[in-house]
Amino acid sequence: MASIVVTGGNRLSGTVTVGGAKNSALKLMAASLLAAGESTITNVPDISDVHIMADVLRGLGARVSREEHTLRIDAAELTSFEAPYEFVAQMRASIVVLGPLVARLGHARVAMPGGCNIGSRKVDMHIRGLTELGVDITLGHGYIHAEAPAGLHGAHVILDFPSVGATENLLMAAVLAHGVTTIENAAREPEIGDLVDFLVGMGARIGGRGSSTLVVEGVESLAPVTHRTVGDRVEAGTFLVAGALSGGPVSVRGFDPSHLELVLVKMEAVGCEFEMHEDGATVRRAGAVVPTDVATLPYPGFPTDMQAQFMALMAIAEGASVITENVFENRFMFADELRRMGAEIVIEGHRALVRGVSQLSGAPVRCPDLRGGAALVLAGLIADGRTFVQDVQHIQRGYEAFVPKLSALGADVVMTDD
Ligand code: EPZ
Repeated sequence: MASIVVTGGNRLSGTVTVGGAKNSALKLMAASLLAAGESTITNVPDISDVHIMADVLRGLGARVSREEHTLRIDAAELTSFEAPYEFVAQMRASIVVLGPLVARLGHARVAMPGGCNIGSRKVDMHIRGLTELGVDITLGHGYIHAEAPAGLHGAHVILDFPSVGATENLLMAAVLAHGVTTIENAAREPEIGDLVDFLVGMGARIGGRGSSTLVVEGVESLAPVTHRTVGDRVEAGTFLVAGALSGGPVSVRGFDPSHLELVLVKMEAVGCEFEMHEDGATVRRAGAVVPTDVATLPYPGFPTDMQAQFMALMAIAEGASVITENVFENRFMFADELRRMGAEIVIEGHRALVRGVSQLSGAPVRCPDLRGGAALVLAGLIADGRTFVQDVQHIQRGYEAFVPKLSALGADVVMTDD
């Protein structure tokens, strides 16, 4: 298994450009199933989750080719309607092929995604919403069996919670339903807006982009599209925190800073200064890190995918801060590892009390999940001595060239094969 070895103390500076958003690209790939032709998606990150989704699509009969950061997906001839457990178990996001498959083919069989390190990751809202669109769903032998022999019909769906995945699955089903579908309490993440743009580019009729009420007027069929994936706001936030931890200035380009508004506001509150650009932001920090409380919420709230990175910053603040995780039920495992580096953190349910310390110390640690893993590397940047981050396959799922990008900013970080 590969590890990342970080030697703390270097001040990062320079410019890094982020890639396309993992949490959009995977869904755009699924959406390409809706058209009987070849769609082209550019600015797709070269990460293992994308490779797994490409295998899921190939298993359905689509032809997928990749050149650099461009994917070509030809879904003209689909020969299967099953997303097998071997793939879904590796990458839960495969569940978003359910909506487009049942809309295009009238049936689908998708393995129930298991839980993962950060929570149970239920799909009840996906299932309830698709049922309201006229899909007959039965669960058996670890699979979701979906049938819509008469096609899908419009419906008025109200989500219990603005679930990103449920919103995406329902959107990709409703675009080919007969009639109008309203999705209330829809997720508003920028990646949803990117999916709406992709679907509209295919000929879908969708109103309410960026709001919590999406209105979809079903159409007979959709055509292939060429689309550039939106920049990855979470990869960008990760590098901005790296700059804030070590002082900077670090410029992060390739994303829309308005997609990270509350993160930037919170980072200013802790003592960071920003220079904004059209396609990014430059961060520097001269003074001490000021403790600041944060609560994760669906967009435009503070993103749960930035919680671990922010905790690394609070770990060296001059005082105590409270971090509340409202989206996932078990997303503090990173804290257990950070304690090994000297952080003082007390977990009470979904709240973490972080008492800042003056210096973290390098130690062997394990990646609990994708974002926690990246945050451990960030902590290693400012720790005294060397930090050995193991199980880095978690990081490689969602960050392309994480180590080279950090090295180019001046970090003393290497990937080693154990
Ligand atoms: C997406 O996951 C992202 N993943 C996650 O990013 C992100 O943290 C999350 O949205 C929230 O922003 C991808 O886009 C591939 P949800 P998703 O449905 O769609 C519960 C990362 O690090 N829920 O909004 O699974 C669920 O258990 C990953 O890049 C139900 O109870 O998120 C969770 O507690 C991690 N029933 C909460 O809602 C359902 O039917 C949010 O889930 C669906 C969800």
